[in-house]
Amino acid sequence: MRTSFAVAALAATYANAIAAPAPQDVEALATPEETVDGLIGLSKNSTCAHDPNNSKEVIVMLDKDQVPEAKTLLNKLGRQADNDGVFDVMDNSQWSAIVMNATSKCISYLDDLAEVKMVDETAEVKSFVTQKTGAPWGLQRISNDAGASGDPSGQDFTYSFEDTNLGAGVDVYVVDTGVRVSHAVFGGRATEGFSFTDTAADGDGHGTHVAGSAAGAKFGVAQNANIIAVKVLGDDGSGSSSSTIAGMNWVLNNHEKRKTQDGFVGSIMSMSWGLQGTADSVDQAILSALDAGIHVSVAAGNDGTDACGTTPAHLGGANSDVVTVGSVNINNEVSSFSNIGQCVDIYAPGEEILSAWSTGDNVINFLSGTSMATPQNSGVMAYLMAQNPTEFGQNPKALKAELLKMGRQDVISGSLGGSANLLLSNGVNGAVTKKRSVTGSPASWAKKLVDNDLKTRWVVTSDDSTLRF
Ligand SMILES: *[C@@H]1O[C@H](CO)[C@@H](O)[C@H](O)[C@H]1NC(C)=O
Ligand SMILES: *[C@@H]1O[C@H](CO)[C@@H](O)[C@H](O)[C@H]1NC(C)=O
Ligand SMILES: *[C@@H]1O[C@H](CO)[C@@H](O)[C@H](O)[C@H]1NC(C)=O
Repeated sequence: MRTSFAVAALAATYANAIAAPAPQDVEALATPEETVDGLIGLSKNSTCAHDPNNSKEVIVMLDKDQVPEAKTLLNKLGRQADNDGVFDVMDNSQWSAIVMNATSKCISYLDDLAEVKMVDETAEVKSFVTQKTGAPWGLQRISNDAGASGDPSGQDFTYSFEDTNLGAGVDVYVVDTGVRVSHAVFGGRATEGFSFTDTAADGDGHGTHVAGSAAGAKFGVAQNANIIAVKVLGDDGSGSSSSTIAGMNWVLNNHEKRKTQDGFVGSIMSMSWGLQGTADSVDQAILSALDAGIHVSVAAGNDGTDACGTTPAHLGGANSDVVTVGSVNINNEVSSFSNIGQCVDIYAPGEEILSAWSTGDNVINFLSGTSMATPQNSGVMAYLMAQNPTEFGQNPKALKAELLKMGRQDVISGSLGGSANLLLSNGVNGAVTKKRSVTGSPASWAKKLVDNDLKTRWVVTSDDSTLRF
């Protein structure tokens, strides 16, 4: 078939002059005599009628010299651009294409048409997904659509990811009770950075657990990131806002130093604590960190109320580039303790989270709280930063936008108090593993070994008063 743009335009005028066929005549008119879009000689052929049951999705590339617009061929096939089975119609200065479902009969018909350059079956674009089995449920939840099911204390879920860097080169500052840097899951990647006392050792466990979820081997998201302990809370889990500011001051200075070093990707402050109200001083320190290009991930709080009432959670939502993180359980239900509302940006697994513990280098423990959801968010941030350092390494605004764009929408049930219904995702839709029995596993002995009723640990006090868990 030879058709030029000039011919098409003229023929269209001609077509306007002939009466449209009555609807009941459409079948009968699918003959060589019928014109397409008024194009004389471009006769309609019904070989490509939509058959959803026997089709393959194909990309039909058109010969621009033969047919100027994809729509012209579509008309010839008797298919509508907005019909079932036609998924995309593309035209540009270089080429035209149609993405549609076609039967094998239709495909060979298309193959023979002069105006068709090629017909390609749509190929699944496979990402290079790597998987680690033996993971806690949260890592499975953030790395596939289906999520996780079964006993959340199991350790045989599957963590899927595309970028095997897993946060390499990113500094995750765990601003918390300190970190047991010698713990097995850190493999030498954890260091003591700052402490308001004489050591950043973790006499409590909270900070070690958080660090393990952000970046620990086996239990963490960004399993190659650097962990830097910034101890602002005491071994009883309490502290003062002035300590948090001192900690952030140290982070800012260290970030500037690290920026000049080889292999540096960017910095994240992971902060699983809060005040009882708000504090301008702490807010200022956080906003300055953002200005310096440091990413900030904070917990929504465990009071089951609106997160907008406390520092630093209230900096989330539209208020700044801080990412405020709420908690869900294995069934995608918002945790009863989780703060909610417009200052919460995203929800992450926060119930029965298995991670490192501070009483020994091989001790693990289950904790629940928005404190546990937050480091998983920090881990995904580190993952994205290492995956694309140029775009996201030191750009809190761009990274937050990407993180929210990737979140899985509308899968959380329960009252969210006006926050977006968004679940943390690393952008991968990986495998799902069904949990087996955990009897006798390290998970079960660790569960017995230590107290797990920690949902009330993370509590907030005001400005200069004591912080409590
Ligand atoms: C459509 O084209 C096919 C293949 O060239 C041909 O066998 C068939 O008869 C045509 N049908 C109509 C209705 O023109
Ligand atoms: C397209 O074809 C696939 C089979 O390859 C089928 O699963 C799908 O339902 C079809 N969709 C439509 C709209 O025809
Ligand atoms: C496709 O298959 C289903 C189930 O076998 C059937 O009900 C339906 O009518 C078929 N549709 C077409 C267009 O053949």
